[in-house]
Amino acid sequence: MRHFIIDCDTAEDDIFSLFLLLHSGATVHGITVVEGNVSFPVEVQNALWASEFSKRFFGAEVKVYPGMDRPLVKEFRTVENVHGKGGVGESPLSSTSKPQNKHAVDFILEMADRYPGEIEFLAISPLTNLAMAYLRDRSIVDKIKAVWVMGGTIHGHGNITPVAEYNIWVDPDAAKLVFNAGFNLTMVAWDLITQYTVNDEWEQIKKMDTELSRLYLSFYSHYRNFAMTKQRMKGNPHPDLITTAVALDPKVVSEMERQFVDVESCDCLTRGATIIDYLGVLGKEPNVNVVYGIDRKVFLDHLFSLLRRGSGP
Ligand code: BDR
Ligand code: CA
Repeated sequence: MRHFIIDCDTAEDDIFSLFLLLHSGATVHGITVVEGNVSFPVEVQNALWASEFSKRFFGAEVKVYPGMDRPLVKEFRTVENVHGKGGVGESPLSSTSKPQNKHAVDFILEMADRYPGEIEFLAISPLTNLAMAYLRDRSIVDKIKAVWVMGGTIHGHGNITPVAEYNIWVDPDAAKLVFNAGFNLTMVAWDLITQYTVNDEWEQIKKMDTELSRLYLSFYSHYRNFAMTKQRMKGNPHPDLITTAVALDPKVVSEMERQFVDVESCDCLTRGATIIDYLGVLGKEPNVNVVYGIDRKVFLDHLFSLLRRGSGP
């Protein structure tokens, strides 16, 4: 049994990442919410919707823990232009439930203590919550089994600046702490996942006509439109969902290398860039499993299996 905490800046791809975890049979102990894609109250609201949906559709109890609503040091900006004001298009999702009355950072520390060596932290958003937990108690490094990070670039092609990926750019101080802390950390970069978009498969998904396929089309259409018109992509990307698939199934990864990676945390043109020591010239111990290739078919099989769930044999 796998045990996860999913750390979200709750937009379309974050929500489907939660669904993929639940579809795989993993236990998701909580959704921790952090600053990022859209306004913080909308992110919490979307997480509550996802939690209610998960209870009904997957029979899973997943509680929502609001966490850090701004980076450790720097200013940041949300990206409603990318995901829509609601994070799943223009309208936010609505829910009737309330978040837990416990801060995400307290929850993360408690879970690490309760399940030492078992919790996997799926970081598909800026790393502020995990960095805060680490600052409070450094021993968390040995208690967390794995940290799966959607973030950074491998070839220096960013999405929020020419060289930086959004999650790392939002809170580079947090990312620098987390990358250098000694976690068992795997990184899935932005300029890797852009090669594995859903292109013509969009039409196949339309034909599925299941509850999840309809949700998928509705949630991702704003993002798809943005990616295809503003980001030179052939279809819609899945940064968070690919990271989740990487976490769940080693067969999704076709190429990976262990290397030393640091984060540029200056207030400068290269803020949030991930610096990979390809040649080991710094002489530092490798600290990150860097993913360099994805098996597109294996990933799409996971996505399609999820979207078909509940549609009969
Ligand atoms: C990442 O930033 C957010 O916009 C997405 O949710 C994803 O986690 C991509 O850069
Ligand atoms: Ca995200």
